[in-house]
Amino acid sequence: MMEKMVIQGGNPLQGSIRINGAKNAALPIMASCLLLKGTSRIKGIPELTDVKTLCEILNNLGVHTKRCEDHSLEITVQDDVNVTAPYDLVRKMRASICVLGPLLGRRGAAKVSIPGGCSIGPRPIDLHVKGIKALGAKVEMKDGYVIATGKRLKGNTVYLGGANGSSVLGTCNIMMAAVLGEGRTTITNAACEPEVQDLANFLNKAGARISGIGQKNLIIDGVDEMHGTHYEIIPDRIEAGTFMIAAAITEGRVVLENIVPNHLTSVIDKLEEMGINIRISTMNRGNAAGEKVTECIVEGDKEFHPVNITALPYPGIPTDMQAQFTALLSIVEGVSIITEKVFPHRFVHVAELNRMGANIRNDDAISIITGVPSLSGTTVMASDLRASASLVIAGLVAKGVTEIRRLYHIDRGYEKIEERLTDLGAKMWRERE
Ligand code: EPZ
Repeated sequence: MMEKMVIQGGNPLQGSIRINGAKNAALPIMASCLLLKGTSRIKGIPELTDVKTLCEILNNLGVHTKRCEDHSLEITVQDDVNVTAPYDLVRKMRASICVLGPLLGRRGAAKVSIPGGCSIGPRPIDLHVKGIKALGAKVEMKDGYVIATGKRLKGNTVYLGGANGSSVLGTCNIMMAAVLGEGRTTITNAACEPEVQDLANFLNKAGARISGIGQKNLIIDGVDEMHGTHYEIIPDRIEAGTFMIAAAITEGRVVLENIVPNHLTSVIDKLEEMGINIRISTMNRGNAAGEKVTECIVEGDKEFHPVNITALPYPGIPTDMQAQFTALLSIVEGVSIITEKVFPHRFVHVAELNRMGANIRNDDAISIITGVPSLSGTTVMASDLRASASLVIAGLVAKGVTEIRRLYHIDRGYEKIEERLTDLGAKMWRERE
């Protein structure tokens, strides 16, 4: 059933919200369980359609997945025969490519449908292929599939840089292919994103030997065997950043619980430069374990200043926050410039924001935003996950009613978005399209 979101704009967000585990850490970590013996229990797996899609792919590969209470997922490999991730499942989510490395690393073979392009632009996999070839795999591209074979891969040094820099899932795939390999693999120009670090930390807990985590040279010393483990996924920095912008644009005051401020340094810095008030505090939870909890208070009650932003690999401003910043800057007096260096075609939100009255000119990989006094509600179309988030943000502050069609995009990455925003005072609901 097709659904649309209806938002009555103009209500400041007030209150507290708990940030979920990170989607983009959960997906490769779930896929990496293909490498392990025994059962893993992973906490902080958000309830998202992307997670469901990956569960379907893993189930098809002989992996048993069981949802438990408290956002946990139990994962056990029961049958290690099938090595194919078919088109009908992969087409739903390009991140499905992250089964390539672990299948090859553990089963010596993988046949994964090649992900097509999408609304954020082409999604090549040449760096993934380069990496596994460097480890000795034979790779063939045939009938829309990448087919890789290679019993016990051999460590090597591989430079993983493309025209737009490092690759997040490319780094994850090569790391997963190499952990059960022979000898040392060094990935130079490795992606340093917190989600890549989380995968490395999970693999180490499961018995891998990975060092240089979070650095440009990532070192993997092969081991013979890895086993299931317990782990908790890091909080989702993109979900947190999205709610920060939603709080600021509505001139609200929101407390975010469960965040890692270090993962959000560039985002917080830019919001502060705009004049948004952000306070971080860490306190004891008051329990016997002396557990600490970090909160972030966002207040958007001042006049905002225009800023320039460049979306870059970590620790720069994430490309996954570019569309949300565009929505925010669209109502900030003056001119702001956004440059996208990671996915240079990721601008599908611009035309939709302009339909709501924004004044954004998009040229190559640059958006020139001239702030308007207000946006007005109308019907808009979501066409990618973060573009949808930017339309929700715009709808929260627009005059009148905004209707967002093709809502399924947002459910790929934000759990129960309308319930959680409604709890903060937004007026929004779902309707049949
Ligand atoms: C991950 O995608 C994320 N997805 C994306 O999040 C995120 O936008 C992106 O990293 C960048 O941070 C997941 O983690 C599941 P890349 P990934 O390989 O790994 C080029 C969201 O909204 N490239 O780091 O696929 C590529 O075209 C999503 O949650 C090659 O040239 O992105 C891009 O320009 C969307 N060859 C750049 O590298 C390759 O083989 C970075 O892409 C691979 C990538």
